[in-house]
Amino acid sequence: MVFSKWLVSLIFIFHLFGTIPTLSSSSLTAKELADIPANFLSHAKSPELTNWMVDIRRKIHENPELGYEEFETSQLIRNELDKMGIPYKYPFAVTGVVGYIGTGRPPFVGIRADMDALPMQESVEWKHKSKVPGKMHACGHDAHVAMLLGAAKLLQEYRDNLQGTVVLLFQPAEEGGGGAKKMVEDGALENIDAVFGLHISGDIPVGSMATRPGPLMAGSGFFEAVISGKGGHAAIPHNTIDPILASTNVILSLQHLVSREADPLDSQVVTVAKFQGGSAFNVIPDAVTIGGTFRAFSKESFMHLKKRIEEIIKGQATVQRCSATVNFLEDKKPFYPVTVNSEDLHEHFQKIAGDMIGADNLIVSQPRMGAEDFSFFSEIIPGYYFFLGMKNETRGPLASSHNPYFTVNEEAFPYGAAIHASLATRYLLHLQPKSAEGKVKDEL
Ligand SMILES: *[C@@H]1O[C@H](CO)[C@@H](O)[C@H](O)[C@H]1NC(C)=O
Repeated sequence: MVFSKWLVSLIFIFHLFGTIPTLSSSSLTAKELADIPANFLSHAKSPELTNWMVDIRRKIHENPELGYEEFETSQLIRNELDKMGIPYKYPFAVTGVVGYIGTGRPPFVGIRADMDALPMQESVEWKHKSKVPGKMHACGHDAHVAMLLGAAKLLQEYRDNLQGTVVLLFQPAEEGGGGAKKMVEDGALENIDAVFGLHISGDIPVGSMATRPGPLMAGSGFFEAVISGKGGHAAIPHNTIDPILASTNVILSLQHLVSREADPLDSQVVTVAKFQGGSAFNVIPDAVTIGGTFRAFSKESFMHLKKRIEEIIKGQATVQRCSATVNFLEDKKPFYPVTVNSEDLHEHFQKIAGDMIGADNLIVSQPRMGAEDFSFFSEIIPGYYFFLGMKNETRGPLASSHNPYFTVNEEAFPYGAAIHASLATRYLLHLQPKSAEGKVKDEL
């Protein structure tokens, strides 16, 4: 049984890739190049590989782990890499895993998945519901891991044809913890020439992808401020210094930052999402704590907001005789840079994704105010980030991410695995020296 299955898959692999000559990529015709993504996709769509990814995703979904605690997820990934015979290094950034497929020599191209879940209770009733109260994969990182392992499987079977090394980046703590930043500090990007990452999206159909060159997602930061006055009886306000009134003025003034100081054509956000102070109807408290987030699409705009948020909170508190301290919480929640897609990689993506799903299924994404810590990678080396469609009209709308009713449409998995594998494979071909590969280089 086991043997025959093995034989079948061997024949299958031979069938799929047998037409591609061992590279020597100079011998590849344009048609053969264009067939690489299509071949990966049809292999990824085989029930064997799709079901394997689905099983992995559901296992991870049942056991969600928060940022820097992804110990079992990381173990599962390493077990699967071991089974496939893929070498890896561990740990990076506490739980991160970095695998290597191909020649082990340059060039190197990275493909990335995040592993962490969110601190929220799942409300979806299904067989593989989270078994951990108060923790849920509500952002699809379970699916991201499964698809990157699917890509690893495709690439490992194809490894003798790889013109360099594909680096699998499994990172912790995307949800605010800046796991990508720690991966960089631990050397995970060493020697890597370019990196690709994706996020599933319920807004666009299965079999489509959305992205744009240049800034795609905002840079993001958090702040918390304590505004202190002097508490006392609510009926004798003149004997107190009221931090509640001062805080409301601080919040109103913060709203002037975007409306009066930002270029209207340069999107920015300042939101106060936390306001805590007082507990009785007749007591003015000593202090109020407020907190929130700020977003921008350039470093200059971002740093301007940061500087002005602090000035406004302190200055406006003083107007009403209060004092204030401002904390940007960078040790726990590092500022996420703007996610900027390299123009060169955009061209690469358009070609490869176009070969795989057809140019009609490539959607131009609007920039989004959400942030993504992939930006710590693309800040250092050329990077490219895109959204992978999972909407299926016949199944009805999907709840948005970070929602307790969030679900994943697993029909998207073959596309995710195949696009990862295709982007990496063709990028390595693209990096071959022109002398030997003049023909291929021109075609890419
Ligand atoms: C959408 O869902 C229907 C019903 O489950 C299914 O038959 C179809 O194959 C799905 N479409 C895609 C693109 O996966």
